[in-house]
Amino acid sequence: MSLHRLLGFRAAVADPTALDAYYAELRLSGNASSGYTGSDGGAAVVIDEAPFRRLIAVDIGCHDDHDVAAVQQRLEARGASPTRGSASVSVLDDASRVLITVRVAEPEAASAPVDLVTPNTLGAIVRVDERSPAVFGAPRPPRRLGHLVIGTPDLRATRDLLVDGIGCKVSDEVDGIIHFLRCSTDHHNIGLVHSPVPILQHYSWECDDLDHVGHTATALYRSDPNRHAWGVGRHFAGSNFYWYLRDPSGSFLELYSDFDRITDDAAWERNRAPLSLEHAANVWGPNLPPEFVVPADLAELSAGWATLAS
Ligand SMILES: [Fe+2]
Repeated sequence: MSLHRLLGFRAAVADPTALDAYYAELRLSGNASSGYTGSDGGAAVVIDEAPFRRLIAVDIGCHDDHDVAAVQQRLEARGASPTRGSASVSVLDDASRVLITVRVAEPEAASAPVDLVTPNTLGAIVRVDERSPAVFGAPRPPRRLGHLVIGTPDLRATRDLLVDGIGCKVSDEVDGIIHFLRCSTDHHNIGLVHSPVPILQHYSWECDDLDHVGHTATALYRSDPNRHAWGVGRHFAGSNFYWYLRDPSGSFLELYSDFDRITDDAAWERNRAPLSLEHAANVWGPNLPPEFVVPADLAELSAGWATLAS
């Protein structure tokens, strides 16, 4: 595809210092203005200060100027008014209030493989007379930012802009409920859910395996148990293990592993079992917490958006 990766996003929060301290605990690299990244670098989270939390912009990488021109053409054909920059094109999604930019960028650097612990299973005992190395694991930074989920008051409008205008591909969707879109070989880089006001619903950092997720999430949880939000479980969409934590701004931060990758669009369409409402949240794990549907700070966010509208 002409789009090849997520470059990152820009969000605003009321207290960037608190978020910076949280990211330091998570051992992310970088800072608010350069962007926070995982240990592999790559996609970055840039943080601004604002009276209430909001997602400002999402950046997507493409191969060359022809790709940028094609995005611009599709957006204009839909009646949008994109802005052409140097090697980039941007458009504001009126529904989510997020500025979507597609820019020419180098492909993502290949990730180095890691030595994973092979578990003992019945019929395949690989470890005897010693403990699993997994119990001696320690928290370490997540590898990379993989995706974000946007809460939008007009799910269909945001979905159509991203798919028909920007050129994201649909990996899974339950119409009117949830949409999983990709701009790379990741199962999804951008998820969409309905929200009464625009929000950054969650953003997600990829880890090596479930032990990496577990050790790293547990460290954050133990220093403040109120951070635990949802998990551990396995999603249907993306197939990944997950553990969600609250960040200090009110968004959810997901740590995940074992994600679906799509390198052949036709093969994915042939092979995939359709996502059903039953599995829209997960295939196993705790029930979806209500605050994943209606944000706990909805009143504050509604008041904030009302100020911007007046
Ligand atoms: Fe996620």
